[in-house]
Amino acid sequence: MEVPSSLRKEHEELLSMLERAMAEPGEVGEAAKAVSEKLMPHFHKEEELALPQLGCLTLSGEGRVENPERVVELSERLKEELPIMLEEHVQIAIALESLRAAAESAGKGDHVRFADMLLLHAQMEEEVLYPASLLIGAYIRQRLTTRG
Ligand SMILES: [Fe+2]
Ligand SMILES: [Fe+2]
Repeated sequence: MEVPSSLRKEHEELLSMLERAMAEPGEVGEAAKAVSEKLMPHFHKEEELALPQLGCLTLSGEGRVENPERVVELSERLKEELPIMLEEHVQIAIALESLRAAAESAGKGDHVRFADMLLLHAQMEEEVLYPASLLIGAYIRQRLTTRG
């Protein structure tokens, strides 16, 4: 069970945009480093317990789930961690606000765009990815129990 490669690549792309911002001198670089401190542990946690379940999804809606107990376990951990992860999104958004402001006054449109993309990424996770992972866990748990 692996994180779907599109999601892994999206994280990688966001991180490389962040690295470019961190390489800037002055306020932009400093603000980007503050974003990185919050973002790195958050991304790691997501790749550990919020996104691998999505690797069970298939276009046909069918197919065998390799390790159903593990899917259930991850989704239960996600459910427990969810309030913390949502708070992390808030903290990341606050750090991004400073980065966005610094990038705007320095005329660095790329980094403004990065801030907007990362905010949209977090919103998409809250609206789609996290709920989908929880739903997959609940569905598989139910299937395991009805099978006895
Ligand atoms: Fe993410
Ligand atoms: Fe996130």
